[in-house]
Amino acid sequence: MTTEQLISAYRAAGQGQVFAFWDSLSPQAREELAAQAAEVDLTEVERLNRSLVFKSGGGGVNLDGLAPAPYVRLPENGGNTAEWTKAKEAGEAALRAGRVAAFTVAGGQGTRLGYDGPKGTFPVTPLKHKPLFHVFAEKIKAAGLRYGRPLHWFIMTSHANHEQTEAFFIEHRFFGLDKGRVHFFRQGRMPAVDFAGKILLETPGSLALSPDGHGGSLRALHRSGALDLMKAEGIDTISYFQVDNPIVRSIDAAFIGFHLLSKSEMSSKMVPKAYPEEKVGHFCVQHGKVIVVEYSDMPDAMQRETTADGALRYLAGSIAIHIIDREFARRLATGGDGMALPFHRADKKIPTVDAAGQAVKPEKANGIKFEMFVFDALPFANNSIVIETARADDFSPVKNADGLDSPKTSREDQLRQFARWLKAAGESVETDSTGLPKPAMEISPLFGYDTATFVERWQRLPIKPMIADGLYLE
Ligand code: UD1
Repeated sequence: MTTEQLISAYRAAGQGQVFAFWDSLSPQAREELAAQAAEVDLTEVERLNRSLVFKSGGGGVNLDGLAPAPYVRLPENGGNTAEWTKAKEAGEAALRAGRVAAFTVAGGQGTRLGYDGPKGTFPVTPLKHKPLFHVFAEKIKAAGLRYGRPLHWFIMTSHANHEQTEAFFIEHRFFGLDKGRVHFFRQGRMPAVDFAGKILLETPGSLALSPDGHGGSLRALHRSGALDLMKAEGIDTISYFQVDNPIVRSIDAAFIGFHLLSKSEMSSKMVPKAYPEEKVGHFCVQHGKVIVVEYSDMPDAMQRETTADGALRYLAGSIAIHIIDREFARRLATGGDGMALPFHRADKKIPTVDAAGQAVKPEKANGIKFEMFVFDALPFANNSIVIETARADDFSPVKNADGLDSPKTSREDQLRQFARWLKAAGESVETDSTGLPKPAMEISPLFGYDTATFVERWQRLPIKPMIADGLYLE
């Protein structure tokens, strides 16, 4: 399409304001604006305007026929030990066959943490202050060593943090991973619109574009060629996790095994909610399909509802950890069988320009951003299953600068985990009443990444280090 055709298409779609300052732009600025404008799917914007912008209420969630989703319980909570053993073996076989890749979504802006840089570069471990990416790299390396097949790792970045993320890996020599197996790709962007559905400019020569949400990861996996690369490498199973959670089991054989044995196209992990209003999504079933209902979409009374035995009825909290079948991701990304992730509307303060092209920093929401959520893929998946995991061993995210889910709470949860592993190996560790060890310590995933791998390695140590003196194991 020529620039003239592009401008006409915008005018025809009622979005001619995007080129309001065209005459005053330099040739280079025109080229950049045209490139951004070409990135936007005007038909999609038109559809979103009709479904989300012009409709009052912004499309609430339909709660008809909603029920809590069933889930596979952990053995310690009444689950079947033999089933877990079988699942672990199936997952291990898939890892040994090289069928699994790790996938991290790291395109978020990390605004709540108040950290200026890609979130994955944020230091999180208690002693060595390793950044999140370093922790995941060691987990992925450890799994590769254990199963004799180094894993590929796909990392989704955003336009805002892509270069910095790549530079960080280069600077740290890919944390010991084979750089040919670490793949970065940018997620897509969506234009923000005002309340009349008009695409906003950020400056006279640029659109107000923002990341299309972690649900955009499925499109981005396809568009970037990552799915083709996986296919060529014999990978059919994607282990998906968020960049903010250092204790995540990046590669969890039992989870992978449950997914494969159930012939599930997309599987999820749950933790029992810590309290009724915990800000996590809820696993539910509706019309026979697994769905996640965000805390903000579930009425308070429902969030607090209990069963006859006093437990929360909607207990299963989503911690955003999934296993995704490669071809399922492709089907969703390409809109096969009419499948497409819905967009969600978020009203935001969006820096823009006035009619004279002067910068405007709004005091209140002046427009709408559109985002997709990866868990909206669940109802499209066949045989979707949910398994339970122990919060202490899988979920302690770094989201806020302080308070809940902060660097401090996450560091302490890592320390408690190290103390539990040492105790499981028969050592005595001085802890406070919350299980927080007194001695300083850190255990690299290369030494052990769960109770079993840690105990195995610890027991092989010819001379055990003194725990009370502080401990770093790698
Ligand atoms: C999310 C989930 C919530 C879940 C919780 C667990 C949503 C709407 N909610 O909440 O159900 O219980 O995590 O921690 O997602 N990201 C991108 N690109 C984007 C947006 C986000 O890659 O455009 C990535 C971020 O880098 C991060 C992850 O997605 O790794 C989560 O994003 P965030 O917006 O922080 O989600 P939460 O609101 O914390």
